[in-house]
Amino acid sequence: MIGRDHIPVLLDEVLDLLDAARPGVYIDGTLGLAGHSREILKRNSQARLVGFDRDEAALAEAQRRLSPYANRIELYHADFRRIRDVEIDWAEVRGVLLDLGMSSFQLDDPARGFSHSQDGPLDMRMDRRQHLDAARVIDKYPEPRLAEMFRNYGELKPAAKLARTIASRRRMTRIESTAQLRAIVEEVCRWIPQKGKIHPAAKVFQALRIEVNEELTGLEEFLEFVIGRLPEGGRLAVIAFHSLEDRIVKHVFARSARPGPEAGLQAVASVDLLTKHPVVASAAETARNSRSRPAKLRAVRKHVHGA
Ligand SMILES: C[S@@+](CC[C@H](N)C(=O)[O-])C[C@H]1O[C@@H](n2cnc3c(N)ncnc32)[C@H](O)[C@@H]1O
Repeated sequence: MIGRDHIPVLLDEVLDLLDAARPGVYIDGTLGLAGHSREILKRNSQARLVGFDRDEAALAEAQRRLSPYANRIELYHADFRRIRDVEIDWAEVRGVLLDLGMSSFQLDDPARGFSHSQDGPLDMRMDRRQHLDAARVIDKYPEPRLAEMFRNYGELKPAAKLARTIASRRRMTRIESTAQLRAIVEEVCRWIPQKGKIHPAAKVFQALRIEVNEELTGLEEFLEFVIGRLPEGGRLAVIAFHSLEDRIVKHVFARSARPGPEAGLQAVASVDLLTKHPVVASAAETARNSRSRPAKLRAVRKHVHGA
């Protein structure tokens, strides 16, 4: 069974910020193994759920885990950015959640190619229906585009050198496994393992994953769309796992919390910030679940007029 010991990140904090005990509709844009959604449905018998995941395996597992609540759920094998295509009774929506990034089972499966610490194909597609995978990026992108990707999405210092080395190696042999790429990174970065030091391949793999899955594209539009549609008192909570995503969330929330035309949203769209600073996992949670360490949770509530 996949992800049997799955622990949802910042669970109590999310339920609290969504005020998930209210009757109504909750939208989970990133179901994963349905850790958060299951708790909402379990604790609140008057909650209904609309869920999305673009990973077929995640969706199947979420469906299995949510089967006790089958009459209260509607699940879609789709990108949450396609939310506009789904008919939703927004007046009934009480909370929307995004828990961005990957599920632990995706990371742990070498066949998915997300992890640099296990050998596997350079795949990294969350939605395996899509054509572009990591091997194709490494094989086809021109050198300057590779450098830009490693710099912007991985914040890697020797981005240009790594791109140059990849461009020269791929003329000799096809780079198609995670181990091959990791070896090139180790060589370029002159990696010597040291306790407490993060492997440079982590940055490179992060960059590739963001590129393959277009993780930053459309996030801002999604957040603005949801803020525009939420009814008064409706809440939106987002967990980000890297600073690039968190920055987008922070800016959209801050902008939407400011009244007036500079908000740049629909005229009525305005929210109250529920988290002045991002909520992070407690020491107890990070000790239990190391994946929770980089998590940053931010939330807003659609402004209640006259309140
Ligand atoms: C961190 S996991 C979610 C974990 C979930 N909250 C839980 O507790 O089980 C993120 C999930 O979101 C999915 N995902 C990431 N980006 C997505 C997107 N743009 N649209 C739909 N699903 C996405 C991934 O496939 C993955 O299953």
